[in-house]
Amino acid sequence: MTEYKDILVETHGRVGLVRLNRPGALNALSPQLMEELWDALSGFDQDEAVGAMVIAGNERAFSAGADIKAMADATLVEMLNRSLTDAWHRVAQLRKPVIAAVSGYALGGGCELAMACDLIVASETAQFGQPEIQIGVIPGAGGTQRLTRILGKHLAMEMVLNGRFLSAQEALQHGLVNRVVPVEHYLEEALQLAAQIADRAPVAVRLGKEAVNKSYEMTLAEGLALEQKYFYMLFATEDRQEGMQAFIEKRKPRWKGR
Ligand code: CAA
Repeated sequence: MTEYKDILVETHGRVGLVRLNRPGALNALSPQLMEELWDALSGFDQDEAVGAMVIAGNERAFSAGADIKAMADATLVEMLNRSLTDAWHRVAQLRKPVIAAVSGYALGGGCELAMACDLIVASETAQFGQPEIQIGVIPGAGGTQRLTRILGKHLAMEMVLNGRFLSAQEALQHGLVNRVVPVEHYLEEALQLAAQIADRAPVAVRLGKEAVNKSYEMTLAEGLALEQKYFYMLFATEDRQEGMQAFIEKRKPRWKGR
C-alpha cells in the first residue's frame, strides 16, 4: 500500500478506512492531506474488493477545517490557480458510498468534508460549524449550499454569518447526521454501517447513491425519470435475478457485482 504522511489507510473486510492524521493541527486539511485523501479514496473507489469507505479523524477532531496557515498569505490568483477546494467536490463524486465518522470538531472544510460524504455517524462529542466568518471569509467547499439544503435557510444563515456550532444532538435533530453514539463506539459503528452497505448488491448501491445525490440538482420530474431509468437498468444485472430468486427460495443472495 502507498506510504502517506498525513493519513492512515486500512481495510476492514470490504470497507476502506482513511484516518486523517495531523493530530497536532486538529487534522487541518492541508493541500497535501487532501491530495493524499483523494489518492486513497479514488484507489478504493476503483478496487473491486472494496464496497464502501469510511473517513475518520480522531476523538478530539474529525477536522478543524482547511489549513489556515497554508492559505494565510495566498493571493486571489494563487487561490484560483491552486483550485484548493476541488478536492472536496471530487470526494462528493466518488461512486461508492462514503461514511464520515465524526468525533469532536468538524469545522469549516471539516464540516464540508463530512457533508460531501453520503452518511455521517457522529460521536456524542461531535461539533459541526462553519466558523470562516471569524477569519474574514465564508465557507468555500460547499458549506453555504449543503448546509442550507440540509438544515434550511435560517439555521444555515446563523452558522455561516455568526459562526454558530451545532452539537451532535442538534445535528441529529436537524438531519445533518444519521446517528449519534458514545465516543468509544463511533468508529466501530461507522465501520459496521459501511460493512452492511458494502455487502449489498454493488451496482444497485452505486445507482442508488447517484440517484439520491442527483435529487439535489434536478427538478422532481427529472429526478423521477432518472430513478425510473436506473430501476429498469438494474433488471439487466445478474444480481437483480439473484436477489429476486433468493427471496423466492428464502435464502441469502450471493452478489457478483454484475
Ligand atoms: N488550520 C491550521 N491549523 C489549525 C486549524 C486550522 N483550520 N485549526 C487548528 N489548528 C491548529 C492550531 O493552530 C494549533 O496549532 P499550534 O499548537 O501549532 O498553535 C492546534 O491546531 C490546536 O489548536 P488550538 O490551540 O486552537 O486548539 P483549541 O482547543 O484552543 O481550539 C478550535 C480549537 C476552536 C477548533 C480552534 O483551533 C479553531 O478555531 N480552529 C480554526 C477553525 C476554523 O476557523 N476553521 C475554518 C478554516 S477555513 C476553511 O475551512 C475554508 C473552507 O471552507 C474550505
